[in-house]
Amino acid sequence: MANLKTQVVETDLLIVGGGMAACGAAVEAAYWAKQHGLKVTLVDKAAVDRSGAVAMGLSAINQYVGIKDGKNTVEDYVKYVRSDLMGITREDLVYNIARHVDSTVHLFEKWGLPIWKDAEGNYVHEGRWQLMINGESYKVVVAEAAKNALGAENIYERVFIVGPIMQGGVCVGAVGFSVREERFYVFKAKAVLVAMGGAVHVFKPRSSGEGFGRAWYPPWNSGSSAYFTLKAGAEMTCQEVRFIPVRFKDAYGPVGAWFLLFKSRATNGMGGDYMQERKDELEKWVPYGKVKPVPANLRNWLMMLDVMDGKGPIYMRTEEAITKIASESGDEKAAKKKLKELEAEAWEDFLDMTISQAILWAGTDTAPEEKPSEIAAAEPYFIGSHSGASGAWVSGPKDIAPNEYFWGYPNMSTVEGIFCAGDASGASSHKFSSGSHAEGRIAAKAAIDYIVDHPAAPNYDQAQIDALKAEILRPLDVYSQFSKTSSDPEINPNYIRPKMFMFRLQKIMDEYAGGVSSQFKTSKALLEKGLDLLQYLKVDSEKLAASDLHELMRSWENVHRMWQAEAHVRAILFREETRWPGYYFRSDKPAMNEKDWKVFVNMKWLPKENKWEVFTRPIISIVS
Ligand code: FAD
Ligand code: ADX
Repeated sequence: MANLKTQVVETDLLIVGGGMAACGAAVEAAYWAKQHGLKVTLVDKAAVDRSGAVAMGLSAINQYVGIKDGKNTVEDYVKYVRSDLMGITREDLVYNIARHVDSTVHLFEKWGLPIWKDAEGNYVHEGRWQLMINGESYKVVVAEAAKNALGAENIYERVFIVGPIMQGGVCVGAVGFSVREERFYVFKAKAVLVAMGGAVHVFKPRSSGEGFGRAWYPPWNSGSSAYFTLKAGAEMTCQEVRFIPVRFKDAYGPVGAWFLLFKSRATNGMGGDYMQERKDELEKWVPYGKVKPVPANLRNWLMMLDVMDGKGPIYMRTEEAITKIASESGDEKAAKKKLKELEAEAWEDFLDMTISQAILWAGTDTAPEEKPSEIAAAEPYFIGSHSGASGAWVSGPKDIAPNEYFWGYPNMSTVEGIFCAGDASGASSHKFSSGSHAEGRIAAKAAIDYIVDHPAAPNYDQAQIDALKAEILRPLDVYSQFSKTSSDPEINPNYIRPKMFMFRLQKIMDEYAGGVSSQFKTSKALLEKGLDLLQYLKVDSEKLAASDLHELMRSWENVHRMWQAEAHVRAILFREETRWPGYYFRSDKPAMNEKDWKVFVNMKWLPKENKWEVFTRPIISIVS
């Protein structure tokens, strides 16, 4: 077996992941842990300062309720999320995050994040729920608070977490390896807070060749949260609810600032406005088709109908929007000044958040005030914190969750000892960066309560840990055993390299589960065939080969993606309707069926039986 030293770390609460939810968890856990003399440890596969979806920075805080201003209520937010997700949402979870998110935003500001203010000193809103920020250093600011709270000695960076350590059905830690040093890690803990983000590159991306790797969602979030919770035997929810973001084409620049702040239109190649011309289509998706704002997936759908009719390219009319705002600002001089200001804001939006989009603008001689930019529907991502909903099924808060949704500790999964937040927890969409941080705080407080109530040190089975180590390092062994048996180590009948494995997974998902090249369409027959091919892939995953630690990480990232993929295919197959047509369309079940399918689709992988169980859970509304 590969010769990696084992390092054992003993702690009380283990936070896996170092993104928004994990940083929120760190700050809150440190506070409560101090009162109880407990230890908190955080592990990130990257460096906390620049890891996760916020690594490049952001240009807005997308969840701010503004309860104090009195304009919005927590109930308003729940209604917004419920409609956007076509009725499928855990209102108790959304409510809980919404009532706490403002305090998280105020902390960000206290820690030094510049939030735009108007002449009266009020926050500048992008839309009803979104605030504009100068956010290039957003993650650095949030990470600094987390690091100060925990202390550098309790943070492990560049350590990739592979999976849970289970003992009698309870989670008692996690295992992983350093991606820089030859070291295998065993983290022993009384509770684990999972916050390793969602998943990208499960589906074939639009980018290819030189641009491969460019995606909207960060390339290093690879389904580790889903794998961790599934492997522990936790119940999962909304695994069918992927997110397809419409983004500036090829560099994936976000559209929010353009639609909301600049009030831009998007038009097709003939100049037609699909939101107007295809309004009648929304009738098919009532009641959700009639709400304002139109749900994200239905906005996508109207655009996709144009694309399928060959009416592309679709353009964001940046030039029209900027000129309109400038011309409304007064006389010619005022309009000129305003134009300069808007130009700066347009570039900053991307420079703060998606630098490659600014580079693409520069490279294609695009001045946004002069010419429109193409937009397109991106490949599917798994991001429960945005406008998707996939994640673990977690307990709600005691004071508002119905009995069916409450089992002792807020945000604990159905497996004792595992708490989830951010992309890792499901059915609580639209938390974004701020809500994920707030949810991390909620989950951490609950996890500390759980540890205080369950103080006994867990037992460990060394044979089980040894077996996990052997399984995790196997790709290194496979490579060293076989790489010399062919003249080119890339091509070898005894193994598969992680990159090739990823291509194979992406091809299956793209062609059978409704990816970009299938126009996001699939059916029972296609899904069953895809599932069949995934089983062959699973068999071959035992032959993954890694030439170094980096490839070992790549190997496990792909195993994690494969599990996310299988959960997704099983969920779309189970839900016999089309509910989110702009996310995926079941051609054999082309309509929404409120009577039978206004339910959650949940699932579990049963560790002992190595079997999947897919079933429904009722939707219980708490906000009328
Ligand atoms: P992340 O913040 O992504 O953190 C995941 C963490 O897990 C990272 O630290 C990662 O390194 C770590 N990790 C992953 N796998 C492993 C592993 N195996 N072992 C150890 N660690 C691991 N929200 C807004 O509010 N405003 C915006 O303007 C906005 N714009 C966005 C733009 C883009 C391009 C993207 C992708 C997202 C945007 N969002 C925005 C959404 C926001 O970034 C996410 O909702 C939020 O970051 C989710 O938090 P999280 O903690 O679940 O995941
Ligand atoms: S980001 O996370 O990558 O910045 P995006 O730019 O799509 O996402 O959205 C930012 C915010 O604006 C989100 O709250 C999203 O729901 C909202 N949003 C984007 N486009 C629209 C639209 N056309 N109508 C209403 N809300 C929108």
